[in-house]
This record gives sequence, C-alpha cells and structure tokens, in this order.
Amino acid sequence: MKTASLLLAPIVAVLAKPVPRYTVARDAVAFTNQLWTRAEVGTYNASLPNVTVFATGGTIAGSASSSSDTTGYTAGVVGVEALFAAVPAVYNVSNPTGIQISNVGSEEITQQILLNLTRQIQAELESPYCQGVVVTHGTDTLEETAMFLDLTIRSEKPVVIVGAMRPATAISADGPENLLAAVTLAVSDKGKGRGTMIVLNDRIANGYYTTKTNANTLDTFKSYEQGFLGYFVDIKPVFYYPPALPLGKPYFEIASDVTSLPDVEVIYGHEDLNPKIAAAAVQLGAKGLVLAGMGAGGWTNAGQAVIDELTANNGTAVVFSRRTMDGFVEAHSTPGQYGGGWLNPQKARVVLQLGLSAGYPDAALRTLFESINP
Ligand SMILES: *[C@@H]1O[C@H](CO)[C@@H](O)[C@H](O)[C@H]1NC(C)=O
Ligand SMILES: *[C@@H]1O[C@H](CO)[C@@H](O)[C@H](O)[C@H]1NC(C)=O
Ligand SMILES: *[C@@H]1O[C@H](CO)[C@@H](O)[C@H](O)[C@H]1NC(C)=O
Ligand SMILES: *[C@@H]1O[C@H](CO)[C@@H](O)[C@H](O)[C@H]1NC(C)=O
Ligand SMILES: *[C@@H]1O[C@H](CO)[C@@H](O)[C@H](O)[C@H]1NC(C)=O
Repeated sequence: MKTASLLLAPIVAVLAKPVPRYTVARDAVAFTNQLWTRAEVGTYNASLPNVTVFATGGTIAGSASSSSDTTGYTAGVVGVEALFAAVPAVYNVSNPTGIQISNVGSEEITQQILLNLTRQIQAELESPYCQGVVVTHGTDTLEETAMFLDLTIRSEKPVVIVGAMRPATAISADGPENLLAAVTLAVSDKGKGRGTMIVLNDRIANGYYTTKTNANTLDTFKSYEQGFLGYFVDIKPVFYYPPALPLGKPYFEIASDVTSLPDVEVIYGHEDLNPKIAAAAVQLGAKGLVLAGMGAGGWTNAGQAVIDELTANNGTAVVFSRRTMDGFVEAHSTPGQYGGGWLNPQKARVVLQLGLSAGYPDAALRTLFESINP
C-alpha cells in the first residue's frame, strides 16, 4: 500500500526550503527529523505560545484518487507541512514546529517508532520554550499509541494525539479542523495536568480509556463508561471537570539503553478455541500474552490448562482481558496470571509490554495490574 517513494516525496520537498532566518536553540536532543521551526515559517509571533507537532502519518495525512473516496485511499502520504498549509488558522493561535517521525498508516507503527516518539516528546516538553505537543496519527491504532505515551511521558504540559477519519482529499475532510482543535488544546492552560488526550470530532477524550468504536464514522473515539473530558466550542476547548488522571495510572521511564520491547501477543477468544495457540505464540517468542476472553475474561478449560503450563514452566506472563467492548476482568491469583480490569486487550498489551520491559517479577506485575484496577 505505501511505497518508499511516496514516503520520501513530501519530506524531500520540505527539506528543500530556504535557509532559516532565525536559529532556535534546542535543549536536550538533536532532532534529525525536524522539518521547520516556529521561527522559520516567517509567521513567528512572540505573543503566541509554541507547539511542537510530531507527524507520524495516517488518514489525516492521506490522499485518495477522488474527493468522494473515503475508504480506498493511501494513508501517510502528505507531509506535516502540507497539513498545516490546509489550516493557516493554526498560525493565529500558535507558533508551530513540525517534526516528521514517520509517515505511515497506523497499522505500520512499530515499537521503534513509539520509542523514538516518546523520547523526543519528553525532551521537547522539558524545554521551557515548548508549551505543548500534538501528535498526528492514523486512527486504527491511535488508542495504543495514546496509551503508550500516557504511560511513558512525565509532564504537566498537554500532549494531544489527533487523527482524521477522512483523507485530506475528501470533500469534507475532518483533518484540518481536528488539527486546529488539537493545537488549540495543546497550547491551552486548561489542557495541563490531564495526561495524553485524544482529539477528533469536536471531542476531547482521555488517552487511557478511549477506544476506536467504529471502523468508519467520524464519532468513533469513545470511552462509553468513563466518558469524554470536554468539547470544542468555536474550536476552543471546554472541559467538564478540573484536571484529573485515571486512578492507579502507572508511569514507566524508558531507560536510555532500551531499543525494543518484549513481544506480547493478543489471543482472541471464541467457541472451539484451539488451546495450543497460546503455546505456539510462546514458541514464536512471546514473553507475554493478553487473552481477549469471552465475557468477563472467560477461557476454555483446555485453554486454561495450557495457560497454567506456560505460566508455571515457561515464565510467560498472561493478562486476562475481554473481547466485549466494556467491563471489568477480575484479578487472578495464580502466579503469572493477572486480571486486565478495565483495560481492553490492546491497552492491556501496552501495560504488560512496559511492565516486562521494566523487568518486573510476578509480584510487581501483580501490584501493577491490581493498582491499575483498584
Ligand atoms: C500576534 O498575536 C497576537 C495575539 O493573538 C495578536 O493580537 C497579534 O495581532 C499578532 N500579531 C501579528 C503580527 O499577527
Ligand atoms: C488570522 O488572524 C488575522 C488577524 O486577526 C485575521 O485577519 C485572519 O483572517 C486570521 N486567519 C485565519 C486563517 O483565521
Ligand atoms: C529512530 O530515531 C533514530 C534517530 O533519529 C533514527 O535513526 C531511526 O531511524 C528511527 N527509527 C525509526 C523506526 O523511526
Ligand atoms: C517560543 O520559541 C521561541 C524560539 O525558540 C522562543 O524565543 C520563545 O521564548 C518561545 N515562547 C514561549 C512562550 O516559550
Ligand atoms: C515450556 O517449558 C517446558 C519445560 O521446560 C518445555 O518442555 C516446553 O517446550 C516449553 N513450552 C514452550 C511453548 O516453549
């Protein structure tokens, strides 16, 4: 679907820009993938806050062959600068800096991209010259990246992850307004102390609980039980409650020598489940498994026997989650087996990867999952 030439085109075009008129000192790290800084675009306004936009690709950067085409398009084609060109109003609310982390559909987001992203965002937020961060992302796995960032970034400043359901070339593309809303939120004091937030369709949602509920519609991001944090009125953020974070939300510092994360597979539960699938995943290298169990995390008797063997003999860590949209999965008392609580399988997978990456033994993983689900 995506080819190297498509990916390179927008980046090369942007690098050919004229020499910057100002230089901007950056604090912690050298950004090799920076496309332009707030000072370079010639619109720098000292009365406006600074925002750094990390672009990863996705539908918001997608292009289709016709303006009525909202499904058969190529995600991750348009560079971050073209996104901004579609919404000049962004320059009226902020001085943006653009950083192209990747330009792929969100199915292609890898753990290496996530590690790069969280490190660069953390460094950027530590700069006193950056008021907030926006991440543009495909929507299909947006909730996983949002969870990863929420658990690995430590800052009061807003981190806003934004996508679009319709490609940039559609008749009423939703990307431009979503991007303007996201930037407005990222530079707003009201967005502080709320962790990573998701912005689409005029809503502000938390990155921790929110999930993609519909494959096609604009109003797809929801957390049915925990609700939205706020709304945009005239593209200005309005919150329902003062700043708050999910109960028991853990923080993981990614050590500087971490270059990959442990392999954790999600196994989907269903009638006539092949019990050996779990062992096959471990044989293929999985250090952890998340079971999208039936009902409140139910697994078959034969399947449970295989899980018991893997946790007892192979050091596999297993989280019981559920295939239903919502609900709670209770703690398990067997060593190596944990309850996913409120977390859906893809979010529980992120937590287990981070816990295993931190080298947590059984007791610490148990504490982790039990404190997440008080
Ligand atoms: C800079 O931003 C301020 C605050 O929004 C605005 O009043 C002013 O007109 C802007 N200046 C320019 C040159 O656009
Ligand atoms: C930006 O602000 C200026 C000055 O207030 C206004 O004339 C212009 O229409 C605004 N641009 C956009 C794209 O909103
Ligand atoms: C991560 O960042 C490094 C340094 O900027 C870069 O060399 C590498 O290609 C990036 N990896 C991915 C997968 O984006
Ligand atoms: C925005 O960035 C510029 C250039 O780095 C810096 O001089 C300015 O102080 C920053 N503004 C804020 C509000 O941090
Ligand atoms: C689990 O460990 C047992 C005992 O060491 C071994 O025989 C078995 O092959 C391992 N299973 C997997 C899936 O690696």
